[in-house]
Amino acid sequence: MKSLVVYYSRSGKTEDIAGIIAKKLGSEIEEIDDHKNRKGLLGFISSGNEAYLQRAIPIEKLKKDPAQYELIIVGTPIWAGNMSTPILSFLKEYKEKINKFAFFSTCLGSDLNKILLYMEHIIPQKPIAVMNINYQAFKKQYHVKMVEEFINSIKKDVKGW
Ligand SMILES: Cc1cc2nc3c(=O)[nH]c(=O)nc-3n(C[C@H](O)[C@H](O)[C@H](O)COP(=O)(O)O)c2cc1C
Repeated sequence: MKSLVVYYSRSGKTEDIAGIIAKKLGSEIEEIDDHKNRKGLLGFISSGNEAYLQRAIPIEKLKKDPAQYELIIVGTPIWAGNMSTPILSFLKEYKEKINKFAFFSTCLGSDLNKILLYMEHIIPQKPIAVMNINYQAFKKQYHVKMVEEFINSIKKDVKGW
């Protein structure tokens, strides 16, 4: 099974989880590059504002071709209750090249329902597995178990894993 983890991370949490998933599944991995400095208060405000408006932004062309993978695992932080704009832009631009996909997010405490509903308008495929890791889960180390369950549900859905 050829799989690719595609993620965006502003402060490292989503990146950590993306790395663990890629290692456990033997996936390749690619970070979305939007050439934006999102550090500091200004970066926080502009990121929140973009996400609130669900505005697609320019992103660097991926080095890997998603169409060459049977499964794409997409990871994003939650911003203003929505997926981050680099990942929104990735899904919009690459939806035709995505076969199956699984989706995960990291956040402080938001839930995924609104994001999953909005996702239906962006990409016709439904994610085969979803996971949302919040601050409490990180603090209590529940994320380890959550990642295991996420991976198990991916493996159940994909024959030959
Ligand atoms: C601009 C911005 C907006 C955010 N909005 C939310 C939010 O609406 N709900 C939430 O639970 N967390 C929110 N967060 C917190 C992040 O989702 C959380 O810290 C996430 O784990 C960060 O992932 P990263 O380290 O990969 O960037 C926000 C963070 C930023 C920077």
